[in-house]
Amino acid sequence: MRSINVGLLGLGTVGQALAQLIVESEPKIRVVKALVRHRDRARKVEVRVTTDPDEIVRDPEIDVVVDVMGGQHPAMEVLSAALQQGKDVVTANKEVMAYHGPTLLALARQHNRLLLYEASVAGGIPIIDAITHHLSVVPIDRIEGVLNGTCNFILSHMEEGHDYLEALHEAQRLGYAEQNPEADVEGYDTARKLVLLARLGFHAIIPADFSAVTGITGVTGHDVARIASFGCGVRLVGRALCQNQCIRLSVAPTVYYQGHPFLRLQGPQNAIQVTSAVGQFIFQGPGAGGMATATSVLSDILRIQQLLPDRESSPTIPLAFSDPESPVICFPLDPEVSLPQVLPGELRRTASYAILSRQLPKGFDTLWGLRQYAWGEEEGPTLR
Ligand code: NAP
Ligand code: HSE
Repeated sequence: MRSINVGLLGLGTVGQALAQLIVESEPKIRVVKALVRHRDRARKVEVRVTTDPDEIVRDPEIDVVVDVMGGQHPAMEVLSAALQQGKDVVTANKEVMAYHGPTLLALARQHNRLLLYEASVAGGIPIIDAITHHLSVVPIDRIEGVLNGTCNFILSHMEEGHDYLEALHEAQRLGYAEQNPEADVEGYDTARKLVLLARLGFHAIIPADFSAVTGITGVTGHDVARIASFGCGVRLVGRALCQNQCIRLSVAPTVYYQGHPFLRLQGPQNAIQVTSAVGQFIFQGPGAGGMATATSVLSDILRIQQLLPDRESSPTIPLAFSDPESPVICFPLDPEVSLPQVLPGELRRTASYAILSRQLPKGFDTLWGLRQYAWGEEEGPTLR
């Protein structure tokens, strides 16, 4: 196997874990240097640092450029330059891939280089590999998952009685949260990951932004306790459906009855349920954290080292993208279980789940009021 020289963009939580993992386990991989913002910041690993991206992308010694710095800019420009300079690229940056992935992938194809991004979705879970390869054999019609470790950490800690801000600060201290944690708690990070999965799973052109995104900032400790009193729990869930040539994406806090696999997720764990013609698959594991994410980055580097061909196909199927009004809460309805009196009786009998709004209409004295929905026969609500 050939030796590989790596240049890192970023030497923070993931970058340092990756450098450590490489030193400990990969004698044929060498981290040559890392781009940082603060040259003098103390690091847990010994890596030469630079504040000039050109020192990475123009270094003839470097074979693979690894983006573990985050954000759209300058990541987009530096990754483009790296591909143009003939480097293969690995990134954990879902923001740059959601907004500029199609352009960067086209550039990679043009320069006959690989651009791999396993770590950008669900940290240590190999979900991109699964969707791109094994599960691509039959059509996928539904992808839903808990895709943000910070939000799962916060909600599972709130269930134990911790305060929202206390849990958020702990998630930041442990390195799970984004530099600007608004991306986590407002649902944007989940939305970006969902877009990446939906593009791959449905072979479709899907814009990075869609409006049906609600985060967890409105979920109070009182809400969590009230939901628990109904025998339920809440998780932030991204949901992508592809039905009748139409794609619908949404991100919303979702209430499940106890026993649902998503409610078993504790701390920064993530899970993704993929439904295809052959059935349902669930992938679960650490969704955030330096070392978990570094393993996904390293597996992409090893794939480049082994010169495995990239089998990702370009989008081919023309599908309509529907962008519904933002829903807030999805409530799975089990006809056998007596439901909180938040739903009118007719809906309780017919819907498989309901999407509820936080705006409490007159006459509703329970947690959430209903928006105007038409109810699908099998899939619950179709937004009007
Ligand atoms: P982080 O701890 O904030 O580290 C970011 C690193 O990038 C720092 O070393 C920083 O330099 C450097 N950097 C940022 N902007 C820069 C700029 N404009 N120019 C030069 N250097 C810059 O972030 P992280 O948690 O490691 O996350 C890195 C990426 O991985 C992000 O895209 C994130 O979404 C993704 N990711 C993270 C996790 C996780 O659990 N943390 C999991 C999956 C994916 P300084 O150190 O000098 O400030
Ligand atoms: N901030 C992200 C999260 C990191 O909490 O899931 C992993 O992508």
